[in-house]
Amino acid sequence: MAESRGQFSTRTGFILAAAGSAVGLGNIWKFPYLVGENGGAVFLIIYLGFIFTIGLSVMLAEFAIGRIGERNPVGAFAHLKGGPWTAVGYMGVFTGFVILSFYSVVGGWTIAYAFKMASGLLSLGDPKALGDAFGAFIGDPVEPIFYHALFMILTGAVVARGIGTGIERACNILMPVLFVLLVVLCVRSITLPGAAAGIAFFLQPDFSKINPAMVIAALGHAFFSLSLGMGAMITYGSYISRQTNLPRAALWVTSLDTLIAVLAGFLILPAVFAFGFDPGAGPGLTFITLPAVFSKMPLGAFFGTLFFVLLGVAALTSAMSLLEVVVSFLVDEKGLQRRKAVLAAGTAIFLLGVPSSLSLGVWSGFTIAGKGFFDVADYLASNILLPTGGIFISIFVGWVVFPKIMDGDNGGIGDEFRWAGVWRIICRYVAPAAIAWVLVSGL
Ligand code: PFF
Repeated sequence: MAESRGQFSTRTGFILAAAGSAVGLGNIWKFPYLVGENGGAVFLIIYLGFIFTIGLSVMLAEFAIGRIGERNPVGAFAHLKGGPWTAVGYMGVFTGFVILSFYSVVGGWTIAYAFKMASGLLSLGDPKALGDAFGAFIGDPVEPIFYHALFMILTGAVVARGIGTGIERACNILMPVLFVLLVVLCVRSITLPGAAAGIAFFLQPDFSKINPAMVIAALGHAFFSLSLGMGAMITYGSYISRQTNLPRAALWVTSLDTLIAVLAGFLILPAVFAFGFDPGAGPGLTFITLPAVFSKMPLGAFFGTLFFVLLGVAALTSAMSLLEVVVSFLVDEKGLQRRKAVLAAGTAIFLLGVPSSLSLGVWSGFTIAGKGFFDVADYLASNILLPTGGIFISIFVGWVVFPKIMDGDNGGIGDEFRWAGVWRIICRYVAPAAIAWVLVSGL
C-alpha cells in the first residue's frame, strides 16, 4: 500500500514538508498581529506553553494515526477503528475544504502585494492612504479573485505532481529560501533606529496584562499554526517511512514552526515600533502597516517585495497540505486519478472562495448571524471545526487505540519513546479538557 501511493524519500524531506504545512499565513501574518493585540511578551509565553505541551502531543498523535492508518484521514480512522470514528476523518476533509477556500483568497493578496510593491504602487508613505488602497483592493470584485485563482492554480499544480516529487521537491527548495529571506529581513528590521522598543514589547512580559481572551487566542492559534485538528498531519504522516522516529519528527516540526513565528515577530514588531505604528492594528497590520514601513526604508520596495514573496511561499506550502487532505481522500477512498481529483477539488474550493472574497466588497451587505461569508468560513473552521477535531484525535489516541499506536512493529511509535506515559495523560485528559474549554469559550 505504502509503495503504490508514494512516500517521502528522505526524513528531512518529510520534516520540511510538514514544517511547510505548519509555517504559513498563521505564523507570518497572524502571529505578529495577535502578539500586538494581546500585549506582547505574555502572549508569546502562553503560546509557547501550549505549543510544546498540547500542540506537540496532538502532532505526534496525528503522525502516528497517519503512519499506521497509511491513508487519508477518513481511511485512517476507518482502518484503525471504523464506526463513528470515521466521521472525524470526514470532518477533517470538510475543514480542509473550508479553510483552503478563504486561505487561498489571502494567499492571492500576498501575490498581488508582491507585484504592487515591485511596481512601486505602495510607496504612498502615508498609512491612511495605504489603508484605503488595501480596502479598495480587497473590495474589488475582480482583482482579488483573479489572484485567488492564480494561487489555487499554483497550489493545484504542485499537488497534482504527487507526494515525493511535487510536494517534497517544492518544499526542499522553498523552505530554506523562506528561512534565509526571513533572517535577512529581520536583520534589516532590528537595526532600524527605535527598534529596541519593539524588541522589549516582544520579550519583556507584563503579567498584569493576562486575561482569559488572550489565553484562548493563544491556544486556538497554536492549533491553527501547527496545522492540527483536521488531519493535515495525518495525511502527511501516512507518507512517512517506518524508519522515521515520530516523536523526534514532531519535535522538529513544532520547533521549526515556532522559530519562524518568533522570527516573524522580530521582523514585524521592531519595525512597527521604529516607525511609530500601532502594534494592535489587527489583521491589517501586515497589509497596511508594513508597506508603509517599507516605503520609509532605504531599498524599501525591494525589501517589501521580498517580504510578500516570502509570505506567498509560506502560504503556498500550507495550502498544498490543505489541498492534499482533500485530494488524498478522493484518490484513496473514491478511486479518482490524482490529476482529476486536483481539478475537481481545486475548482470547487476556488468557487467557495469567491463569495468569501466578494463579501469584503460588493457582497458586504449579505451576512449570516452578523458576519460576512469570509468571517463565517474562518469562524466555522478555526473556532469550531479545528478544536473539535483536536478533541477527537486526542481521545482516539489516548483512550481507543493507544496500544496499537505504540506498536513499533506495525508502524507505531515504538517503545524507545521515553515520554509515552506523559504523552498518554496529555492525550487522555489534558488536551481534551483544555481544547473543550477553548471551544466553549469561543462559542
Ligand atoms: N498552519 C497554517 C498556517 O499557520 O498558516 C494553516 C493551516 C494549514 C491550518 C493546514 C490547518 C492546516 F491543516
